[in-house]
Amino acid sequence: MKFFLDTANVEEIKRIAKLGLVDGVTTNPSLIAKEGRDFKQVIQEISSIVSGPVSAEVIGTKADDMLKEAFEIAEWAPNVVIKLPLTEDGLYATHALAEKGIKTNVTLVFSAAQGLMAAKAGATFISPFVGRLDDIGVEGLKLVRDLNAIIRNYGYSTEIIVASIRHIGHLEQAAIAGAHIATIPGSLLPSLWKHPLTDIGIEKFLSDWAKQK
Ligand code: E4P
Repeated sequence: MKFFLDTANVEEIKRIAKLGLVDGVTTNPSLIAKEGRDFKQVIQEISSIVSGPVSAEVIGTKADDMLKEAFEIAEWAPNVVIKLPLTEDGLYATHALAEKGIKTNVTLVFSAAQGLMAAKAGATFISPFVGRLDDIGVEGLKLVRDLNAIIRNYGYSTEIIVASIRHIGHLEQAAIAGAHIATIPGSLLPSLWKHPLTDIGIEKFLSDWAKQK
């Protein structure tokens, strides 16, 4: 399974990249706004740290505006991926970009039908939002399982990026379901490697070691 970092914080990306855990990065307008920095500069910095795909999202809601932004963003770095919302205009732009060989990440996917549409339109990646579905009482991970089955049934090349991950269970179940990628907020990462029994075990080994004559 590939791990993307779900952040626009360059320092966080640098720190975690040193652990060999970063295969790519996803950003969105909220994450970029949180940094209070220039969009292009942030994306270019991230793209120089991480060699894998770096998603940068368009702001336009009309296909023409999306495409104008997309062509500009695509020039920022060779590994940049254009993130587009799952709307009719977004699907149109996704298809147009696919025809030009520009990679896309179709975001805000909340149903299997939406994911199927994006895969058929030629999306490189689709991002189902598991946490936001759980928030409204719908099992987000079921969507991941369904999308995984659909993509494999028809042999689409589209890869699933499990997004809106809130806890370790989301990641573990997404991996068991066979999702290609999980995008993980930096703040959640330590909970993926930390375990109280590991800490207790180290303490015990060290105290036993200290007792030897
Ligand atoms: C990633 O592509 C998404 O933008 C992100 O995972 C959304 O997460 P949130 O629901 O926690 O904002």
